[in-house]
Amino acid sequence: MEKEIEEHDCGCMRRKQKALIKKLSINAAASIIQDPEISASFQIFRGKRALVTGASRGIGRSVAKHLYHLGAHVIAVGRSETDLEVLAAEIPEIQVLELDISKWTIAERKLQTIGDIDLLVNCAGISSLQSILNITEEEIDQTFAINTKSTMNLTKIVAQNLIKRKVGGSIVSITSQSSTFGIKKHAIFGASKSAVEAFTRAAAVELGQYGIRVNCVSPVVILTKNARKYWEKTKDSKSLLAKIPLKRFGEIHEIVHAILFLLSDKSSMITGFVLPVDGGFSAC
Ligand SMILES: NC(=O)c1ccc[n+]([C@@H]2O[C@H](COP(=O)([O-])OP(=O)(O)OC[C@H]3O[C@@H](n4cnc5c(N)ncnc54)[C@H](OP(=O)(O)O)[C@@H]3O)[C@@H](O)[C@H]2O)c1
Repeated sequence: MEKEIEEHDCGCMRRKQKALIKKLSINAAASIIQDPEISASFQIFRGKRALVTGASRGIGRSVAKHLYHLGAHVIAVGRSETDLEVLAAEIPEIQVLELDISKWTIAERKLQTIGDIDLLVNCAGISSLQSILNITEEEIDQTFAINTKSTMNLTKIVAQNLIKRKVGGSIVSITSQSSTFGIKKHAIFGASKSAVEAFTRAAAVELGQYGIRVNCVSPVVILTKNARKYWEKTKDSKSLLAKIPLKRFGEIHEIVHAILFLLSDKSSMITGFVLPVDGGFSAC
């Protein structure tokens, strides 16, 4: 009988202890979030100024918002005034800049007026996906002007600024699995991104001595609104999915985390690297 009472008491005690621990954990978590010192430790980009192109929508928009929440001052570049206004309304601290980055000299001039930059994300890009039998000179010129030449121009501008200030920095460009692998209808797009990867390796070799790291993130399909529309419709998605070991396309946060890693000091010994975010596609 005594043993039974003891066990009953023990059972009650354990339940009470569990409830207390749960309550304490919730309170502890809440006070951690409110503790300015601890919340500051999550602000890994505090004091940094970041320039993000292609920030009016898709991946670039998400990168810009994450960088802001992690403490950076963000300059978000895009062409669409409306999309930039929506971003600015959501987070007024993000500085938006309407700029067509394919205009070499205009971009050079405008970017001289925005102040110092520590982090650059070359995310703006276009893709006109079609057979090589139908490509036009205009499409080639436009794709290379936006995807390739602007990345080179902005990398140059930011590197010059970092070297002048004698500080290191980090530059990340978004390429594509089609820069390494032959994918139907991706000839111009893939070629424009391959050039960015070659440029990145050479830039890393030249800029390493100044503490400037230059890397790429190379995704498989990432389901932005636009990508979702295209890949849900096309017959090609079934055969592409079959070649991805994880059997799915990527979500926006999955590429954003890779970009943030390469921008941050957590990757301080990595430069000249192309990081695939491809569910294992490149391992096959
Ligand atoms: N999503 C994918 O599946 C995927 C796969 C492989 C690689 N990528 C690459 O990842 C990057 C982001 O892709 P995403 O899917 O987020 O693209 P998205 O939704 O189509 O957005 C493209 C962004 O680039 C900007 N942009 C295009 N031309 C520009 C120009 N001349 N000047 C300034 N900004 C310009 C657009 O801004 P405006 O509309 O305001 O001009 C927009 O913010 C691109 O480089 C893309 O090639 C994406």
